[in-house]
Amino acid sequence: MSNNIESVLVENRVFPPSDAAMKGARISGMPAYEALCKEAEKDLEGFWARHARDNIVWTKPFTKTLDESNAPFYKWFHDGELNASANCLDKHMGTAVENKTAIIFEADDGAVTKITYKELLGRVSQFANALKAQGIRKGDRVIVYMPMTVEGVIAMQACARIGATHSVVFGGFSAKALNERIIDAGAVAVITANFQMRGGKELPLKSIVDEGIAMGGCDTLKSVLVFMRTPTACNMVAGRDKTFTEMLQGQSGECKPEPVNAEHPLFILYTSGSTGKPKGVQHSTGGYLLWAKLTMDWTFDIKSTDVFWCTADIGWITGHTYVAYGPLAAGATQVIFEGIPTYPNAGRFWEMIQKHKVTVFYTAPTAIRSLIKAAEGDEKIHPKRYDLSSLRILGTVGEPINPEAWMWYHKNVGGERCPIVDTFWQTETGGHVITPLPGATPTVPGSCTLPLPGIMAAIVDEAGHDIPNGAGGMLVIKRPWPSMIRTIWNDPERFKKSYFPEEMGGKLYLAGDGAVRNKENGYFRITGRIDDVLNVSGHRLGTMEIESALVSKTDLVAEAAVVGRPDDLTGEAVCAFVVLKRSRPTGDEAKQIATELRNWVAKEIGPIAKPKDIRFGDNLPKTRSGKIMRRLLRSIAKGEAITQDTSTLENPAILEQLAEKL
Ligand code: PRX
Repeated sequence: MSNNIESVLVENRVFPPSDAAMKGARISGMPAYEALCKEAEKDLEGFWARHARDNIVWTKPFTKTLDESNAPFYKWFHDGELNASANCLDKHMGTAVENKTAIIFEADDGAVTKITYKELLGRVSQFANALKAQGIRKGDRVIVYMPMTVEGVIAMQACARIGATHSVVFGGFSAKALNERIIDAGAVAVITANFQMRGGKELPLKSIVDEGIAMGGCDTLKSVLVFMRTPTACNMVAGRDKTFTEMLQGQSGECKPEPVNAEHPLFILYTSGSTGKPKGVQHSTGGYLLWAKLTMDWTFDIKSTDVFWCTADIGWITGHTYVAYGPLAAGATQVIFEGIPTYPNAGRFWEMIQKHKVTVFYTAPTAIRSLIKAAEGDEKIHPKRYDLSSLRILGTVGEPINPEAWMWYHKNVGGERCPIVDTFWQTETGGHVITPLPGATPTVPGSCTLPLPGIMAAIVDEAGHDIPNGAGGMLVIKRPWPSMIRTIWNDPERFKKSYFPEEMGGKLYLAGDGAVRNKENGYFRITGRIDDVLNVSGHRLGTMEIESALVSKTDLVAEAAVVGRPDDLTGEAVCAFVVLKRSRPTGDEAKQIATELRNWVAKEIGPIAKPKDIRFGDNLPKTRSGKIMRRLLRSIAKGEAITQDTSTLENPAILEQLAEKL
């Protein structure tokens, strides 16, 4: 397996959609796709207005489509009103969807529960009433720190129903990360669980919430609402904490959805950027929901008979758009899975596809790569041992997929019959932006192919000028689109600087990824982040965030620099170069300190941010002006020979020291 971009650039295998995939597809054949693109190019506003009217139930119809008067703070459909939860639930009542299964939930231990749309509406409504009884109102921010459960989705939907803005924090983040997010969002409540179940283990959530609050500064916080996922008791603070059972008692299962303005913030989701502080990506209600619904139709060509399964956690954007909102807005039946792909064995995904007759399966390259490795080591859990004939479309997301993994997925999971949609997008884009369409786009392993209609994606140089196909550059989107990030919560200046830099004219949305288009067909290939953001197992991590975590261990660390290096399994791996306040350790002592630092990072950010490699040096390679030469560190991390010019380096001898593995 290799992630080598060179192998991607010479890839020339093409897989046109089969007749079966094209037949009955919403967008069938390239001419249909091209016609939509043309329509959008000719009249962008008219195009989106048409889709917004066809796909969303508006309690007050919009009359204006796009407001660019305060660009780049774009507004979409902004005199319209709607409710996101009503668009996912109420709109199905009285239709064939009402009594259809909305969610098939499979718990970590394999227990399966099903819930219909009508039942889900009742539970969301009851939860919404309970939130109101807690004094939570439209516009309030609520943190959701929950396991992958039906209750997690209910909590998000209930917030949306009353117009409260949710901010989901992934259950793997630390107390400190939680504390920072509660404070930044000014949250009034935290919705959590006593424990979460992962791979047969009971892992704490509530005690982490308690620890996070105890760190101080959470002055806006009034209540903590606790789902008892397991029978094990947890600490409850009188007057502040309530179990779900307590708070739901006596609440009615009917709750009128609160209409909100199309621009009302549906949620804030924190993600890593190129500084030490995560950014609160703010999304709208109208434009975002339109995208969630429309991309379910376009990218997954979702049909009333489909069983959709997106394996992402609700803590990430994929779990927002393609678990909590998109499938429900589309009226689909979806599988929600609590556990991990390797428990009780690495055949779990295939077994679940077989058991629930999943038709559309959406996962991350990192999961595919780890399952390839497992299947190659153990015939018994190879996908060919399972009946996967229900599958009709496969998807990937989160990081570039290497052609070898793509081919394996295509052959062994998709039986060479299922189109693979390699969906490129980001927390900031709200949903897919560059992706094949299963009934139209011929696919190429490792390429996310072409932009969705209405997405004016391009590749430019540092000044924002177009770059010809075949040459690499920076990925931008030239015109606004409905589900784009609206701002960074509490930091509009950072929003402008990060995504609409003046150096590029201030009008292009800068994705932060490098990309190249194929000379002949214009297909996009994403070559990876061009900023200080790493992608480890599809999780986005800021190098500066990890550096700040390391240097906050003030008794030990003097200085730290973090870079990424390619990794066969996780895509990228975190590599930290550390200068200690004491002399440079070697041997067992170095290993012991490295473990201590890894645990420290896990405590500061979360276990996902733990550096895989730690190297110690007496110093870091710096220019004479004191700048850390990260390019050199990247080469060292990769184990490459140093070919760069090191003449400006203050201390060349340091390179050898840092190349030494523990
Ligand atoms: O680098 C790109 C990579 O993931 C980044 C966005 O991460 P996040 O906001 O956490 O959202 C992940 C889920 C949408 C992008 O800047 N990325 C995402 N999808 C792909 C990808 N890289 C290559 N191919 C993809 N399909």
